[in-house]
Formats: sequence, C-alpha cells, structure tokens
Amino acid sequence: MGGKQSFPMVQIPKGRTFVVTGASRGIGYETTKWIAMMGGTVVMACRSQDAAVQAMRRMNKEYKELKSRGETPGLVDVEELSLYFMPLDLSSLQSTKEFVHTYRESGRPLHVLVCNAGVVKAIPEKTDDGFESMLQVNYLSHFLLVGLLLPMMKNAAADDDIRVVMVSSDAHRMCKFDLETIDYSGEPEKFGYFDYYGRSKLYQIMQAHCLRRRLRNTGITVSAVHPGMVETDIGREFLDNKMWQLFVSFNRLIGMLQCPYDGARTVIDLAVNPALQGAPAVYYKNCSPGGSSAAARNEVHQEALWTWTMETLKDHFKEDEVYCLEGADPV
Ligand SMILES: NC(=O)c1ccc[n+]([C@@H]2O[C@H](COP(=O)([O-])OP(=O)(O)OC[C@H]3O[C@@H](n4cnc5c(N)ncnc54)[C@H](OP(=O)(O)O)[C@@H]3O)[C@@H](O)[C@H]2O)c1
Repeated sequence: MGGKQSFPMVQIPKGRTFVVTGASRGIGYETTKWIAMMGGTVVMACRSQDAAVQAMRRMNKEYKELKSRGETPGLVDVEELSLYFMPLDLSSLQSTKEFVHTYRESGRPLHVLVCNAGVVKAIPEKTDDGFESMLQVNYLSHFLLVGLLLPMMKNAAADDDIRVVMVSSDAHRMCKFDLETIDYSGEPEKFGYFDYYGRSKLYQIMQAHCLRRRLRNTGITVSAVHPGMVETDIGREFLDNKMWQLFVSFNRLIGMLQCPYDGARTVIDLAVNPALQGAPAVYYKNCSPGGSSAAARNEVHQEALWTWTMETLKDHFKEDEVYCLEGADPV
C-alpha cells in the first residue's frame, strides 16, 4: 500500500453491515470493495441497479485475482463478497425516504453509514424538490438519510460500535458560510459552481460537529473526511472546460492526483479501524486528523445551519425522529 498511511486490514464479521452511498464508482467503489474484502456486508445505495450489479461483478473479479496472488494479508476467504444493492437517488427526498423504508423492511442491522455520493454541477440545476442540486445531493438528502436511519443506529449503539462517515472535501475551505444564499437563485451565468460545491462540503462537516454534540453520550462516532484529490468521474461535466483541464493536468504533473484506492484509504480507515471508535477529531485526511476551516468550526454557524436544515426538512421527519436527532433516546 505504498508509503502512504492506510487503514489496517481487520477481520470484519459478516453480520457487521455498512451502507455506502454512491458505491458503484470512484471512491465509493473502492471503499465498498475493501470493506467487503475484509468480510463486512455492504449495502450499495446507488441510483442505477445496472451500475451497481456491474460494480459487484468487478469487485468479485478483483477480489478473486487478489486472493489467488496470495500477496494481500487479511482478505476474507469466501466464494462471493457480501454485497447488496438498494436503490437510492439523493436528488429526490422521496427516493431517500423509500430507501430508508426498504432498509428497515429488510431487517438488516446498520453499523456504519458512509455518506459518499456526490456531484459537481457546472450549471445551477434544480431538483424536483426545488433545491440547487449540489445542496440536495451532497448535503440535504444525506442529512435526511442520517436522520431517518439514526433511531436504528441508536438502538444498536448501546453495546456496539456505530459510525457515520461524511465524505467531504478540502474544497470547503474556498467558501464562506451564508445562509441567505444557501440555495442558489441567481442568474445561471453567475453561478459559482466551485463555491456552491465547496459550500455543500462545508455543510457536511458542520453537520458532523452538530451530530457529535447531540450524540455525545451514545456509542455513535461521527466524522468527516477529505479523500485528497482523486482521479474519478466527479469532474465529468467539465471535460471540455479549459480551466478544469489545466487544473487536472497541473495536479497530475506535481503528483497531487491520486487513484480511487488511495482516495478511499481515509474513508475506509474511519469506517473500519477499531482504534477510531470514538475518533477524537471531526475532520480527517491521509488517515490523520486534518483540521477543517474556521468557518466549519464556527459553532454559532453550525447551529444556524442545523436549525435551517431541520426547518427545511420538517415535513419529512416524524416527531420521534426529530427527538432522536436532537439527542433523545429513540422510542
Ligand atoms: N475526486 C476527488 O478529487 C474528491 C475530492 C474531495 C472529495 N470528493 C468527494 O468524494 C465523494 C465521491 O466522489 P468521487 O470522486 O468518487 O466521484 P464519482 O466517481 O463521480 O462518484 C460519485 C458517486 O456518487 C453517485 N451519485 C451522484 N449523484 C447521485 C444521486 N443523485 N444519487 C445517488 N448517488 C449519486 C454516483 O453515482 P452514479 O454512478 O449513478 O453517477 C457515483 O457513484 C464525493 O462526495 C466527492 O464530493 C472527491
């Protein structure tokens, strides 16, 4: 695994169950594969069943190749990795609620939720729910997902190691916090896509801070991560953009661009490393505490964002789910 810091290869019992959003490619793909290769069960929360099934086949193929080479210690010894697909489209609050319903009905436990799926949009698109799409996909729907799944996680947490990992980004450093303009309503040509992407990633870290305060006395660990600069499909809307091409070429040249496996290391570490149960820091990169921006650490702004989000999603939470999110025991 090179000279970079990485996660330990641990034995994960098959019953330990992970949900990874956006698991069919990029960082989510590698995260899912390695967790499953250590023995865990992973539910791949993806919007395309075809993409998820193809990803599962590729993961099994890569697993068998690795196993037959015999060079990677700690791989589980199974015929097929324990992988399942469940549909989730984060651009829809309805789809997010249906995912949670299907998950509850499945009777599966939930030990680790990895909020990984994300988009960067070149133009300001509105979702069917009426939100700028990066705001909804990267932040709002993940907030709803966490809130609706929290009672299940809290019920298990008394005697178990339960975790929520938000895949954020150092792009959060490039923007300021401004609730007035949280949902873009300006002219399309004035849309600062990098600003709005960075904001959505900032909100994930702020949410992690708020959750940690509220879940202080439970066994639930909440953290956020910057995976590094990773060569994935995240920039697919910008392939013709000269600035983007320059940015990517420059970073490739100076060795800053990582492969998806390298990008997934810190995410996997936070999800599986026994030493990171109750992880002391909120924000991690390169498998170490990373230090987020002053804006992300501003408690007044964190609580203002929390209040805005709870108000915005109020029609989607039941009363007991709100109590649970606010720190009470689930009923
Ligand atoms: N790459 C980087 O340099 C970098 C740096 C910092 C942070 N990150 C963060 O890392 C995370 C993973 O990104 P990546 O680089 O691996 O990008 P990626 O290869 O484009 O993967 C993104 C994943 O998100 C899924 N997704 C997108 N929209 C969705 C929706 N509406 N509902 C459900 N899933 C959706 C995609 O599913 P489909 O296959 O269906 O499109 C895909 O599986 C993101 O949160 C990103 O912000 C990436």
